[in-house]
Formats: sequence, C-alpha cells, structure tokens
Amino acid sequence: AVGAGDDAARNLSSCLTSHGVTTFSLPSSPTYAALLNSSIRNLRFALPGVGKPAAVVLPSSKHGLRAAVLCARAAALAVRVRSGGHSYEGLSYTTENRVPFAVIDLAGLSRVRVDGGSATAWAEAGATLGELYHAVGTSSRTLAFPAGSCSTIGLGGIVSGGGFGLLSRKHGLAADNVLDAVLIDPSGNILTRDTMGDDVFWAIRGGGGGSWGVVYAWKLRLVPVPDTITVFTASRTGPVELVAGLVHRWQFVGPNLPDDFYLSVYLPTGGGSSPDSNVSVSFTGQVLGPKRRAMAALRRSFPELGLAASELAETSWLDATAQFAGLATAADLPDRRLGSKQYSKGKSDYVRSPIPLHTMAGIVRYLATGPPEGGCVILDPYGGAMARVGSGATPFPHRAGTLYGVQYQVYWDEDAGEAAPVGWLRSLHSFMAPHVSRAPRGAYVNYLDLDLGVNDWTVAAGGSSEAAVARARASWGAAYFGDNFDRLVRAKTAVDPGNVFNNAQSIPPLVNV
Ligand code: FDA
Repeated sequence: AVGAGDDAARNLSSCLTSHGVTTFSLPSSPTYAALLNSSIRNLRFALPGVGKPAAVVLPSSKHGLRAAVLCARAAALAVRVRSGGHSYEGLSYTTENRVPFAVIDLAGLSRVRVDGGSATAWAEAGATLGELYHAVGTSSRTLAFPAGSCSTIGLGGIVSGGGFGLLSRKHGLAADNVLDAVLIDPSGNILTRDTMGDDVFWAIRGGGGGSWGVVYAWKLRLVPVPDTITVFTASRTGPVELVAGLVHRWQFVGPNLPDDFYLSVYLPTGGGSSPDSNVSVSFTGQVLGPKRRAMAALRRSFPELGLAASELAETSWLDATAQFAGLATAADLPDRRLGSKQYSKGKSDYVRSPIPLHTMAGIVRYLATGPPEGGCVILDPYGGAMARVGSGATPFPHRAGTLYGVQYQVYWDEDAGEAAPVGWLRSLHSFMAPHVSRAPRGAYVNYLDLDLGVNDWTVAAGGSSEAAVARARASWGAAYFGDNFDRLVRAKTAVDPGNVFNNAQSIPPLVNV
C-alpha cells in the first residue's frame, strides 16, 4: 500500500531533483540506513521503535540547503536539521508524536576558511569541532577557538546552544565569539547579521538549535593562545572523605583561578556502597602557559591535590584538543567516523553556593551506589570570562554568580536496558535539588533533557498557543534561559511565526499564523 509518507517522499524527491539536488536518500534506497545512522550518537534513538524520516537530504551547497528546506515544507514534512547529531535527546533526527519528517543533514557542508590576518574564520555549520580545530590550529599555533571537547560535535548544534569548553573561562562560550552568521529562514530567505534583526541574531547565539531556521555558516572570532600550554589529568583514589574533601575544596579553587586556568572534576559512578570502599575522582586541567607557572599556581591555590610535576605536560593547543577528545593525534581531529555511539541519558544543573563538606560526602557516597562503569558526574568551572558577560547579552543566562555547571550522565548496554540507569539518574537529580540553583533550577540547553517538559507538537508546522508558551516558560524555558525566555519568544515570532522549525523543546511562537 502507498501511504501518506510515500507520497510525501515522492513529492520531496521530485522537488529536490527539479532544484538540482540529487544527494538524498529515501527509505527504499540501499544507502538510507547508513546515512541516517551515520551521526546518531545516542543509540536510544536508533532503535526500531523510533519513527524514521521520509528522507535524509545531504545538501552540498547553500542553494541545495535552501532547496531542501523549501521542498520539505512543500511536501508537508516536518524539517529536522542535523549537523553533528550529538543532541542528547535525538532532536535532530526524530519528531514528537510520529509527525512525518525529513532530515536535512549538513555533513556535506563542512568547509572552514581561516583568515589568520583578521583572526576570524567562516565555518559551514556542518563542520565538526574537530574540523574547525584542525583548520585553526594548523593555520597558526597561536590561534584557537573556545568550544567543547568532543571532536565530532557539529558547529550547527553546539554554537546554537552556547558551547562551553576548556577555553571558556578565558574567552567565553563559542556563541560569545560569533561575529556573523548566515541563516536560512522558513521562507528560504538567506539572512545575515545585518538583515536578520537584532533579536534573531541574539537568539541564534545560545537560544538552542532547531528553532530559528537553518544556520548555514558562522563567522567566528578566533582567540589568541600561547604556543605552549600545559595539560594534565590527575586521578586520585581513596576513602569517600578524601575524595569529598578534594571536591569540596575545588569549589573554592576552580571558579576563582586566573582566567588562564581550567580545572574540572570528573567523578565516575559505582565503586560500591560499603562505607570503607575506595572511590575515585580525576581533575582535568589546562593552563595557558608553561608548566612551571601552572605548577606554582596550583600548588599555592590547591595544595590538597598534591600535584606532581610528572603529571603535567607541555603541548600545543591543537594537540591538547586531540588529547581531550580522546584521539591519538591531531591528524584524527577531522575524522567524523571516530565519534562514539552509546545508549545514554544526561541531565544538568548549576551550583551558585559551595556545597558543604558533609553534603559533598553524601553526594560522593550516592555516586558510589550508581551504575558501575556506567556513568559520571562532571563539574565545569565557571568564573573568569564566563562571569563577565551579562546574563542577558546572549540567551545563555548562567553567568556571574554561577560557580560551576554539573553534568550527570549514565550509559548502558543494549541488553541491560534503560530502566535502571535512567531511574537512578533521575533519583540522583532529585537528591541534588537542595544543593543547586533554585527558582529556577537551571539547566544547560546543550545538555537537552526532555524530563524538564516537552512541547508535544502534533503537526509538521504551525501549532502554538499562549498555553504552549506559558508551559515552556514555566518549565524547560526557565531552566535553560531564565529571564531571557520572553525575548526568545519575540525572536521566534519574528523569524518563524508559522513554527516551521520546531522540536520537543523548540521556542514556541506567540501566535500561530
Ligand atoms: P545535532 O546535529 O544533533 O543538533 C542539535 C540541535 O541543534 C538539534 O535541535 C538540531 O536540529 C539543531 N541544529 C543542528 N544544526 C543546526 C543548524 N545548522 N542550524 C540550526 N539548528 C541546527 N557541549 C558543550 O557545550 N561542551 C562540550 O564539551 C560538550 N561535549 C559533548 C560531548 C558529547 C559526547 C556529546 C554527545 C555532547 C556534548 N556537548 C557538549 C553537547 C553538544 O553541544 C550538543 O549536543 C549540541 O547540540 C550538539 O550539536 P550537533 O550539531 O552535534 O548536534
């Protein structure tokens, strides 16, 4: 039988062909599954029960990208835009309520042009962080870009949601370093900073991907780094009291070190619940300077860590990005195939007041009861440049007064299933409630968490109401964006009043036009 989905795929296919776009795959095509799965990082959303797209389109030019948007709309398909596919909740390649859709995958739009003279780069949004870092770091040993650690993350998603990384205490978020952008709106207009309007240019730099249109390219400000920097990972194992003591002390150190220092905490779950089991912690460090300066400052400010000179190594920024991405060499940075795939669920929080020592010990003990080898908590230090940007300067509100961000992650095997690890993660999140930011309890939009609430759209485009806006504002809207939510709604209503670019946590327009 020929269903509505087949008609839509046929209409999309003939529209694309008439626009000269031939790189797309329909479910009947032998390349379809490989293309769809190519950048699904969270295997939860590759399971057979998850609705699949009527087509995956792989444009290779701005013109082809525009045609893909217009043809998907003409075929009455919802539009899902995918750059690196790292969405924690699979929002770049799934829809709510099985609404028929097309994935527009930007993997073929990954050119990066670095201009060392002006210390800027134009990067197509389908480029990965690894492709960007490689292009920047090989053009100059003293230029860099502040964004995340994993090399296969796409620029389309990470910059749209902020983009925090090891240079952020010195230079802010990736989104803080966007100078211009090319955005394709729902009608196919190609907009730049000058033509999209202030609210929209503000919204696309931290308001989350998938709400505004398709970002075709970003113009990025590159930042200076010394030609030699220092990196380390210092692991410590011991009784709960020792580990809790280190993490407790870190709260006063990590967010207050000079801006050249980044020092984060990684706490694995598991380790046993008996009171005398040993647990472990590791501290990841990057210092924009030589080893002797790093040692001197860290021994002075954090003597409890007992850092040994042999734990630190000098390197270039480019090699450090490869190391922190878990790659063997910087030559691997542009390789999109090296991204890991797993079943996982994440959540996030922000801490504004140090957690007392006895509470920290309780948290470390709680983590020890978590899935062995199957989860972690990461504390990312803020302060420095993160605190100097105003909380309304971009949609990302977690600025001055935020000590650190918290990421919670669990992973599991296909056979084990998600019920136990996800249940444990949710109970950990509840356990943390008294110790983290409140009213609103903050979360990071790049660590999407549908537990916070969903839009529940039932049609490809259109659909919104004052109730939908109010629901979003009271739940995930407040958590991700705080007081910036209403300006995001204004930007959305200006650029996409028909709600063409929607997903489970997209910004709803104020009225449905
Ligand atoms: P993906 O393609 O899934 O897109 C994410 C969202 O953005 C979707 O809603 C999508 O529709 C939209 N989108 C994508 N491209 C777009 C475009 N061109 N125009 C408009 N919308 C677009 N974050 C961080 O700040 N620092 C870090 O160090 C890390 N580390 C990290 C490691 C790992 C293993 C994962 C899985 C994730 C992270 N993240 C992170 C989170 C990451 O920033 C977040 O998942 C990004 O949204 C991923 O962007 P992608 O383009 O890869 O995702």
